Amino acid sequence: MNRRLEKLQRQLQKSRLKGLLVKVNESGQSTQPNNQNVLYISGFAGSTAVLLITADKAFIITDARYFARAKSEAKGFRLVKMERGKKATVSINQALEQAGLTGKSPVGFEGNRLPYQVYQEWKKDLQANLVNTSGLIERLRQYKEPDEIAEIRQACKATSRVYAEVVRLIKPGMTENEVALEIDMRLRKHGAVDNSFSSIVASGPNSAVPHHATSDRKLKPGEPVVMDFGGVFPGGYCSDITRTVFVPGKQPSAKMREVYKIVLEANQAARKALKPGVMWKEYDGVARQYIAERGYGKYFTHGLGHSLGLEAHDPFDYEKSPLAAGTVITDEPGIYIDGVGGVRIEDDLVVTDDGVERLTMAPYWRF
Ligand code: GLY
Ligand code: MN
Ligand code: MN
Repeated sequence: MNRRLEKLQRQLQKSRLKGLLVKVNESGQSTQPNNQNVLYISGFAGSTAVLLITADKAFIITDARYFARAKSEAKGFRLVKMERGKKATVSINQALEQAGLTGKSPVGFEGNRLPYQVYQEWKKDLQANLVNTSGLIERLRQYKEPDEIAEIRQACKATSRVYAEVVRLIKPGMTENEVALEIDMRLRKHGAVDNSFSSIVASGPNSAVPHHATSDRKLKPGEPVVMDFGGVFPGGYCSDITRTVFVPGKQPSAKMREVYKIVLEANQAARKALKPGVMWKEYDGVARQYIAERGYGKYFTHGLGHSLGLEAHDPFDYEKSPLAAGTVITDEPGIYIDGVGGVRIEDDLVVTDDGVERLTMAPYWRF
């Protein structure tokens, strides 16, 4: 964890900033923090905190619910206590003072994440000259360290096991929600602390809707079922897998078998094209061209995937950043035919020094 802090501090040393403020944005669900940048830099996973990072010091400002966790999780950070009934900015000013940043030192804030209302308060109350530094931590998060990759590998292993258990339960008459419940229960059983997003189970014609809202529709023999799910595992790293299966009791249609074959081949072609230095456009283009050449180009309606890490959709500059070693991305081509059905197959991949490793080893469908 401290290696990440050091990386950030090295960036700060090179910039004109005297410090950086990083805030957790509380969501409606108070135990669901909404700023993985705080987790990334400090290890703190609670729902209320502001970090103040300077070139050689680190502070965590939080309230009494989180004093114990701040001490145990945010190693090497000095705790500054928020007091009940007082504005958070009082404590942030204390931290600025302890850091020796009195007066109007330039201090960064995350303009891409900080709510406007909080920015207004900070601007009014803080003893600092606030500077927008969007993307500083996001840029560090693009490329994963070996310990992060190990956590994602573990997450994907557990998630692949969930798939292996659930696929055996699929039968006609089960509802999409019942399938999702089996997935969610088994994710927890295999170590997840949360879902990385609400599990998608899309059956029959619903499978043609890429982000279908899982419903009470009953599965029918022979039809496709797209299952897209993932867990958040202790430490905060996510998995994200999609497998398309077919309900037993009837042969899937020739059309859906053809579509499945093309999607799987496109998934594999993209993976094979991946090596350090490839740009996102090129990687995406391999699957897109494969599908287009087989006449289904207009049915592949979304991007090939995304970066994966502390968030299911992790930050990544898809236009400018090469897919270098340490990049973790998904490979999820799909073909969606309105009113008929769809297929998506999603794997999580890590770019290595000489190629690529597939992290989601769950088997594909065999007809
Ligand atoms: N359903 C989220 C994703 O696969 O990206
Ligand atoms: Mn997914
Ligand atoms: Mn995905």
